Amino acid sequence: MDILEIIESKKNKRALSKEQINYWIEEYCKGNIKDYQSSALLMAIRLNGMEKREIFNLTEAMMNSGDIIDLSPIDGVKCDKHSTGGVGDKTSLALCPMVAALGIKVAKMSGRGLGFTGGTLDKLESIPGFSILLSPEKFVQSVNSIGMSIIGQSDNLVLADKKLYALRDVTGTVDSIPLIASSIMSKKLAAGCNCILLDVKYGSGAFMRTKADAEELAKVMVEIGCHFKRDVRAEITSMNQPLGLAVGNILEVQEAVNTLLGKGPKDFTELCLSSGATMLLQAKLYDDREKARKDLLETITSGKAYEIFLKFVENQGGDIRYIKDFSLFPKAEYKHEIKADRSGYLTAFDTMGVGLLSMHLGAGRETKEDVIDYDAGIILNKKLGDQVSKGDVLMTLYTDRCNVEDKVSSAKNLVTISDEMILEPKVVEEVISYDDKEKKFIIEEE
Ligand code: URA
Repeated sequence: MDILEIIESKKNKRALSKEQINYWIEEYCKGNIKDYQSSALLMAIRLNGMEKREIFNLTEAMMNSGDIIDLSPIDGVKCDKHSTGGVGDKTSLALCPMVAALGIKVAKMSGRGLGFTGGTLDKLESIPGFSILLSPEKFVQSVNSIGMSIIGQSDNLVLADKKLYALRDVTGTVDSIPLIASSIMSKKLAAGCNCILLDVKYGSGAFMRTKADAEELAKVMVEIGCHFKRDVRAEITSMNQPLGLAVGNILEVQEAVNTLLGKGPKDFTELCLSSGATMLLQAKLYDDREKARKDLLETITSGKAYEIFLKFVENQGGDIRYIKDFSLFPKAEYKHEIKADRSGYLTAFDTMGVGLLSMHLGAGRETKEDVIDYDAGIILNKKLGDQVSKGDVLMTLYTDRCNVEDKVSSAKNLVTISDEMILEPKVVEEVISYDDKEKKFIIEEE
């Protein structure tokens, strides 16, 4: 086999065989295929696409390029949840204890934030003492006893994705549905859960700009899941505004905890209830969505989900005094209020701009090496559809940096205020699953 032949095949729009795909991934991981050759092949895939069969084979080859996690020592149904990345997306922090309170086992491996999107691990590490490193034995024991654990992805999980993603990032080949789907699904499959809920986001703060693109990506990933005999469902959610009101690590932990105490923002609470209900249906612990939602709400009102969150944090070394008393958390040195310069209705957010602003304030990383200020970030005072009066505070920025004046002064451009009123947008637009017997997608409109 020869890599040049494989590149020529894809360049000429021919489908690659399983052997060709395996050869590429294996030899690239061993260093026998050069970055410039893989770059050429990635661009040919980006331009000419892949058939389903090729995507399944690529996912499998990538999945087998590193460790495959065995979760069989964990009793019960193991569920995972993955978001394609958003701004203010702290869902795992509140959702996982809620579903764990109803019997789902959450054995989750998460990632760090980069660029405009945040990462669950960074949010958790903003709790003093919290460790995302557990031995495999302690991970299993934690999930069995508490119902949940969230740790960092092992260094050896899907080695091919580590190399390929870095290459795609610098060769203009990130925005390819076959490459995104195989990258995400190889990691989710290798992480070993029976059921996987994908939150595929679209809009001004997401990889996928349109709902149609998000649906196409979601369908490919759901079909990959079905091919590998897992129950994978995908919810399509809008990132046309940040999720909830808080963006930034400590601020988001506090918002997630408030949500577990029944004081969360409406859209974020709704996402947790809807996602949780889908996970409970996937786990076959419920067969009625409404009943599942009702019981999820009860995990909040009874305090059960909050108790699980406290146990989870304590078990991983986190100091729960901070969770019980937010005033202990460090505060950012500077605070800037951004005020509306006209009256009207908030009709659009530049959500990616909000994510980038938060990064510049210190809450995120521009490069992998950057250090995060956990207390930095943004609190929104207004959301889409809200009425605004001239002089109202639209958002408050928190930072420890004194050299971000230009970013602060352009922050008001991140929202559009118009005369026309718009309706509050839906949180979850639809849930996509696949009926393998009938060979068709099922789309539930929320
Ligand atoms: N997230 C991933 O893990 N992979 C991609 O290709 C895009 C987003």
